[in-house]
Amino acid sequence: MKDQKEYWENSILDWEDISYGTAEAKPVSLVERVAHYFRGPVRHRPVVALEIVKKVKPARVLELGCGSGRLAFALVKEAGVSHVTGVDISGPAIQFANERAKSLGMSDKLNFIASSVGDLDIAAQRPFDFVLGMGLTPYLREDEFTRLFQSIQGSSFLFDVHPKGASFQNFSHAVYRSIKGHPFYNRFSKAEILDKLAKLGFPNVTWNESQGVYYITNVK
Ligand SMILES: C[S@@+](CC[C@H](N)C(=O)[O-])C[C@H]1O[C@@H](n2cnc3c(N)ncnc32)[C@H](O)[C@@H]1O
Repeated sequence: MKDQKEYWENSILDWEDISYGTAEAKPVSLVERVAHYFRGPVRHRPVVALEIVKKVKPARVLELGCGSGRLAFALVKEAGVSHVTGVDISGPAIQFANERAKSLGMSDKLNFIASSVGDLDIAAQRPFDFVLGMGLTPYLREDEFTRLFQSIQGSSFLFDVHPKGASFQNFSHAVYRSIKGHPFYNRFSKAEILDKLAKLGFPNVTWNESQGVYYITNVK
């Protein structure tokens, strides 16, 4: 079984193409072709994020698990964010994002760092007004999750979460991960997440759902 970095290192760029593009766009396996049709919530995540960011209007955003920066670029171009620092465990995705920012003349607004959330010096990334992570929380170890929330005390945030439960979506995703040799993936119940966050000093977190995207935020 690969570790999280080995898994994502080279797979995230293809994962993005398959998830956000059309399943027919490039030759992909039958597994990926089928997976594409279950990723409606994945494609809805940026819609949720942009809507909330447009409402909160943060100047500086820290985006964790940013992949190749699709959402980060949209935050600057469409939501009026003045600076995004994106962080991802995949070196190739970060290289792609930094090269894109440079080629678009946006390096003063977008900066991408290759690091796991667990190794990131979050304090060194301040100032930021908003912390965002879409499709990230299930891949964090318990200690990484705890350290992350301890490090962003006092900040506004938005993360999507992947709840526990017997559903066709969860079953098919488990089959997909097993075929792909994916490392650990944590699901939590609503009560577990809210209890964990309350103990970490975030008593006013809300749990929300939009078109299959479950997310937690401390903004009203
Ligand atoms: C499911 S993808 C989501 C990518 C993007 N946020 C999106 O919604 O399209 C998960 C992303 O999290 C990154 N990732 C996984 N574990 C990580 C960790 N511990 N630290 C930083 N990034 C991580 C992966 O490399 C990948 O880019």
